[in-house]
Amino acid sequence: MLDVKRIRKDFPIYQNNKDMAYLDNAATVLKPKIVLDKMNEYYTNFGVNIHRGVYKLSYLATQAYEKGRSKVASFINASFEEIVYFKNASEALNFVALTWGEANLQEGDEIITSELEHHSSVLPWQQLALRKKAVLRYLKLDESGRITVEALKEIINEKTKVVALTLVSNVFGYITPIEALIKEIRKYNCLVVVDAAQGIAHLPIDVKKMDCDFLAFSSHKALGPTGLGVLYGKKDILKGIKPLFYGGDMIDNVELYDSTYREMPYRFEVGTPAIAEVIGLGYALDYLKDIGLDNIKKHEQELTCYALEKMKDLKHIIIYNHNPDLGIIAFNLDGVHPHDVATFLDTDNVYVRAGHHCAQLIAKKLEIVASLRASFFIYNDKEDIDKLIRALKKAISFFYQGE
Ligand code: ALA
Repeated sequence: MLDVKRIRKDFPIYQNNKDMAYLDNAATVLKPKIVLDKMNEYYTNFGVNIHRGVYKLSYLATQAYEKGRSKVASFINASFEEIVYFKNASEALNFVALTWGEANLQEGDEIITSELEHHSSVLPWQQLALRKKAVLRYLKLDESGRITVEALKEIINEKTKVVALTLVSNVFGYITPIEALIKEIRKYNCLVVVDAAQGIAHLPIDVKKMDCDFLAFSSHKALGPTGLGVLYGKKDILKGIKPLFYGGDMIDNVELYDSTYREMPYRFEVGTPAIAEVIGLGYALDYLKDIGLDNIKKHEQELTCYALEKMKDLKHIIIYNHNPDLGIIAFNLDGVHPHDVATFLDTDNVYVRAGHHCAQLIAKKLEIVASLRASFFIYNDKEDIDKLIRALKKAISFFYQGE
């Protein structure tokens, strides 16, 4: 297990929230001091605009900003020009549908996705399909709700133009067998878009090895600041894409009736960017690397086993995911609205999410409106889980009084 006591010292939020069991890590993770310090350092020491100034401070800011991009590229084994910034993973995934999708999809073309997706991975394609009269197809999840190669094989065909899938389910914590799926997808001429928002901080990602065409993630789920998302796009595919947004910083030469644009990735990034955030994300990724993605995965797996062992003995509990690969457990207390349970747990400073987790399709498949979700990360330990169990036992006594 990771040395949680030591790790917590790096997370200032614990200083004023010593008693909390923060178990909402699939919604966002807490931020280490180094990220806050480096963002503050930018604003304090060289907080000016990038790319434009020909003075020292602007040069320093540009250097720090672009170092951030190099760190992102190296974290997922991409090249510098293949990394494009947006305001979050949702915007990055929309960009792919609005550019490549708009330009390449025609009536009758097919798009494959799954009911396990976050709304950001499915809605851009659903809406594109409606505009283009393309066909949106959902691969059949197996009995535990997993995406499998067999299910893909059943529906992929010559008409498939896009496969858009999540790398890790933010409701079930399942890891999609993405490399095996992509090997199958490569037998057809179609684009692969991977939503890695829930995977980026939890397992090693190598886009070259994976061989996806696009992959998106958000900074805030990777120990970085909010307001920043990353899109990886294969160089040759990005080259063929026209800018979606026009304005400052992305231009080369502007004439009265037409203009030319900068090289990749700058032509896709309009206006003053999230400078401090990009710097912060770079240090967040360094922090994750130092701990080691494989160690994080193991830590989460151990916590999940421990939690499941304890939860299975609780009365009235319904657990929706089966042997999750990472630290996420989706559950309910039978007949009690999850918001009521989450509010009850809050009184003991146990923080979980209650809702549809931005993934209504899977809730509908489970025939529920919402669920509770406990999700674990590097600063969680078994004591957090014990707190959750104690609070759940109290909730059970309260909600099922007289039974
Ligand atoms: N999409 C985030 C979640 O899963 C916010 O909760």
